[in-house]
Amino acid sequence: MKRRNLALLAAAALALGIVLADGGAPWPTQNIPKEAPDAPKAYPPGELGKMVKLGEDIFNNTDTHPLSKQYVGNKLQCKSCHSNSGKDKTRYSTFIGTASSFPAYSPREKTVLTLEGRSLNCFMRSMNGIRPPVGSKVSVALATYITWISTGMPVDMNPNKPVGPYNYPWPDPEVISVVKSGKVDMANGEKIYNTQCAACHGTDGNGIGPFPPVWGDNSYNSGAGMSNVIKGGSWVRYNMPPGYAHLSAQQAADVMAYVNSHPRPSFKLTEHLPPAEKMGEYNTNVPEQIIPAPTWPPKKK
Ligand code: HEC
Ligand code: HEC
Repeated sequence: MKRRNLALLAAAALALGIVLADGGAPWPTQNIPKEAPDAPKAYPPGELGKMVKLGEDIFNNTDTHPLSKQYVGNKLQCKSCHSNSGKDKTRYSTFIGTASSFPAYSPREKTVLTLEGRSLNCFMRSMNGIRPPVGSKVSVALATYITWISTGMPVDMNPNKPVGPYNYPWPDPEVISVVKSGKVDMANGEKIYNTQCAACHGTDGNGIGPFPPVWGDNSYNSGAGMSNVIKGGSWVRYNMPPGYAHLSAQQAADVMAYVNSHPRPSFKLTEHLPPAEKMGEYNTNVPEQIIPAPTWPPKKK
């Protein structure tokens, strides 16, 4: 096992070596969000602290934790996209300030979401699973954990989108303009993937060792933000490879077009809802949505 881990690290180091040799600046220089304050270190006392820790455990082990695995349909954890459990202020998918931005307006749902509701939507799409009931232990624990990360932050509800103040540009206007101008180059994306991503995510997209799958049955479905080349490209530009995010908007769109051109579970919203008696109310103004996979190249209208 130890030897296997070493081999993985070596593969990762090789990938990062290639990345650095590429000559790109270590971080995109434009649109860098302001740096976040530190995440809290001390857990609250008593039952509240226990709930924070339970939520953290579920966040990091979502597909295997006894409380959450029944709601997960792939081999991802929340931390697969919300890097370092959402606590790292130097990573742009940080959750510092997220909870204090809710309730927030969601353009996707065309309604106002609570933090709990927003997290449950990631189960339906990013986790390719079933929406846990509002108020269930798994839902409360995750909301408690994510709220704790915003300890000390002023309440500042977001009227435009359901993300916090220290999120990277979401979605990134430069990635939007690459995609909208029709200049996405999937062949270039394949080259980038094979030289800068495959060492960790595998040439078959299935993920190697601890590194998560990016396509196939074990990955996010076509309804996830990541399946959309604009949104997935924005995320990858600011988060991958871990600690060395450096892709240009063009490269990020190219590589996510290549990733999303592969098979993965298709999304039919109603298949991700629990039986009526367990549902309560699903807070949305978009009650059905069907998105066939793969999501790239775009379907001709
Ligand atoms: C496949 C990737 C992926 C996985 C796995 C995932 N998410 Fe997300 N999530 C996203 C993306 C993309 C967004 C949009 C904005 C962003 O990047 O922060 C998002 C947004 C959110 C937000 C809104 C706040 C914000 O600032 O981002 C919350 C809360 C959230 N996710 C919770 C969860 C929880 C809880 C889980 C595990 C059950 C989870 N997510 C799993 C991709 C993912
Ligand atoms: C050194 C190993 C490594 C390299 C190289 C790497 N990744 Fe990742 N990737 C990770 C890890 C680890 C995660 C989980 C999130 C985290 O810890 O930041 C992840 C998460 C992801 C995710 C979201 C989760 C999922 O599985 O869908 C996507 C998409 C992704 N990487 C795409 C890429 C792309 C595209 C590249 C190349 C530009 C790349 N990665 C390079 C290790 C790597």
